[in-house]
Amino acid sequence: MAEDLIIDTTLSKQEKYEALLPQIAGLLQGETDVTANLGNIMAALKFGMSWFWVGIYFVKYNTNATEKELVLGPFQGPVACTRIAYGRGVCGTAWATKSAIIVDDVEQFPGHIACSSFSKSEIVLPGFKNGEVVLIMDIDSDSYATFDAVDETYLQKVIGMIENII
Ligand code: SME
Repeated sequence: MAEDLIIDTTLSKQEKYEALLPQIAGLLQGETDVTANLGNIMAALKFGMSWFWVGIYFVKYNTNATEKELVLGPFQGPVACTRIAYGRGVCGTAWATKSAIIVDDVEQFPGHIACSSFSKSEIVLPGFKNGEVVLIMDIDSDSYATFDAVDETYLQKVIGMIENII
């Protein structure tokens, strides 16, 4: 496996994704460990796209095993909130609505959970198994209005890769 990603920083966003996705697929070749693979996918996205924070939250039972919540999984970036309730924040809302959410200005999103004051915009996408949300991928930018339909299209492909390995 080649350990270094090759992403030309002068490329357009779409070109960066086109260059990055095959390299992410390559990272997964011949490796079956879920933690290793998710860690590498988060690192590839964080450093390939130069975002502020990229991570996974898994739907898991809370410590009392009474209800499910989102629990922080593999991520790249500053330390983050470890648990998020159903319907709370952008991540909990994407879980409840089973849909991707793009937020141009996090301060305008009701109930947004600020893990870092540097985070200005955000895209959140749910991942599914058997029709149920099993994880959320959250990506934060330190600039406003970073994410759009291009990101959603390509990140859905990444979610597809993740769904295939979990
Ligand atoms: N902002 C998210 C919380 C997760 S952190 O940004 C890593 C939210 O509102 O759900």
